Amino acid sequence: MRKLIDVARQSPIPGSKPYHQTFAYETEDETATVATALRELNASPELLDADGNVADPINWECSCLQKKCGACAMVIEGVPRAACDTKLADFKGSTVHLEPLRKFPVVTDLVVDRSAIFDRLRELEVWLEEDVELPRRRNAIAYEASRCLQCGCCLEVCPNFSTDGPFAGMATMVPLARLLAEASGDEKRALAQVHRNAVVAGCGKSLACRAICPAGIDIANLMSRSNAAALWHRW
Ligand code: SF4
Ligand code: SF4
Ligand code: FES
Repeated sequence: MRKLIDVARQSPIPGSKPYHQTFAYETEDETATVATALRELNASPELLDADGNVADPINWECSCLQKKCGACAMVIEGVPRAACDTKLADFKGSTVHLEPLRKFPVVTDLVVDRSAIFDRLRELEVWLEEDVELPRRRNAIAYEASRCLQCGCCLEVCPNFSTDGPFAGMATMVPLARLLAEASGDEKRALAQVHRNAVVAGCGKSLACRAICPAGIDIANLMSRSNAAALWHRW
């Protein structure tokens, strides 16, 4: 398989202009992912672009390479995805375009600053103070929510989310759904209030985020369960 990998590049130097650079990548491995290509290109003794010019290593982030950490989230062929879970062979065209997530500040190349996600969880106090005993019937919902990678792909496609807006988006709703399943008493009431103010009030219910989650989390189901808890006080 031979692909051209077109990368949106951005130097970390303030004021520098973004540009695109294309790299030729060849492999016998039909299961090679975008992450495989980026790792192998960067491992070249001298990285050359498709025109034969010497290029700087491509900056991107990864950790687990098993769709467990969310670090490698980027826009691939116009859709936010996990690079380690996106096979090059799935794209019919000869060129695969890579861009950083655009909802977050670009640090360099494909690396973005997603601290807004974690700042929002801190600001809204999305945590439990006490140990809890999870009712058995809520195990499934808590487990589903615990699989969130905090990758930001759902925020990338959401028309209502911005890092400086009041709507927290699904990257907050999903961990909140887990805590709503686990909490009781005053803690549950406080979390329900957060859900009403930071999630329900801003979500347009377009469900653009529904099929985008790399972890395959059933966002619509978690949203309806959390709405039941936070608005109607029942599961
Ligand atoms: S349903 Fe629509 S508005 Fe709500 S979080 Fe998903 S994409 Fe955003
Ligand atoms: S809900 Fe899915 S898409 Fe959104 S942050 Fe969590 S893992 Fe990523
Ligand atoms: S490197 Fe962890 S999800 Fe891709």
